[in-house]
Order: sequence, then structure tokens, then C-alpha cells
Amino acid sequence: MDCDRIDSILESYGYDHSAIISIMQDVQGIENYIPEEALRYISEKMELNLARIFDIATFYKAFSLEPRGRHTIKLCCGTACHLGGAAQNLDQLKRTLRIEEGGTTEDRLFSLETVNCLGTCALAPVVVVEEDYYDSVKPGSLGKILSTYSSDSED
Ligand code: FES
Repeated sequence: MDCDRIDSILESYGYDHSAIISIMQDVQGIENYIPEEALRYISEKMELNLARIFDIATFYKAFSLEPRGRHTIKLCCGTACHLGGAAQNLDQLKRTLRIEEGGTTEDRLFSLETVNCLGTCALAPVVVVEEDYYDSVKPGSLGKILSTYSSDSED
């Protein structure tokens, strides 16, 4: 946990309690998740109730208390995608990445999530990586999709 960076975030918001969500978003931006110790640190520094901060962190889906990958893969398992072969795509991703749904690869490059419908059923089965939509995905095309992100350099 980088206390100096958290301190500068807190200072930039003037320790304003009403900015707690923005503060937590910025802290999450440091490592792409908020370690529990960071929540405790924010609580102490801002003199804010720790339970209140935990409530916020667990209520909003945008926050993660677990390490997440740099790239989030969302695989749609809605009806149209299911009929198009989403289950096979999910199996392939789990095998390739060696993680389960909700998991993150050891190198923290990818996290894998399933969703119920992305609203693009005509393109089923659909996989989204970050903001990039991939349509009519087959298990054989997943390797190429992943390789696009595997070669990314660190920010
Ligand atoms: S069911 Fe997959 S996009 Fe709608």
C-alpha cells in the first residue's frame, strides 16, 4: 500500500467527507482495487467511521476489495449468448486463464466475470474486454482476443 499516494489523494480533496466516493475511486486507481489496509488508513486519516467506508466499498460494484486484473473480461451468459455457445467460451477461458468466474490471473493481467445480458443479443455470443466488444465469439477465437491484451505494456 502506497501511503504517500493515498495522502496526496486525501489532500487533493481536502479530506472532505462528502468526497469519499471520489477519494475511494482514486485510491482504487492506484492498484485497481482497494486493499483492506487502505480502507483502514482512509478511515484513520479522515476520522471517518470504518464500518461506513466498508459499507460504501461493498455496496458499489465499481469497488473491489480483492486484487483485479488490468483487463476485465465480461462473458455474456444471457439466453441468446447461451444458445450461441457461451458455456463453451466460458470453459475455454477458464482453462486458458486457469481461473474460475470472478477470479483474477496470477499475473493480474485478466479478471473474468459473467454477466446476464450486455444488450447486444444480435451479436451473440458476446465477450467484452474493457470497452471492446467481440461478437460471434467461438472458443477458437479467444486466444487471439486475449493476445491483444497480453502484449500490453504497463502504464
Ligand atoms: S444475451 Fe448476450 S448480449 Fe444479450
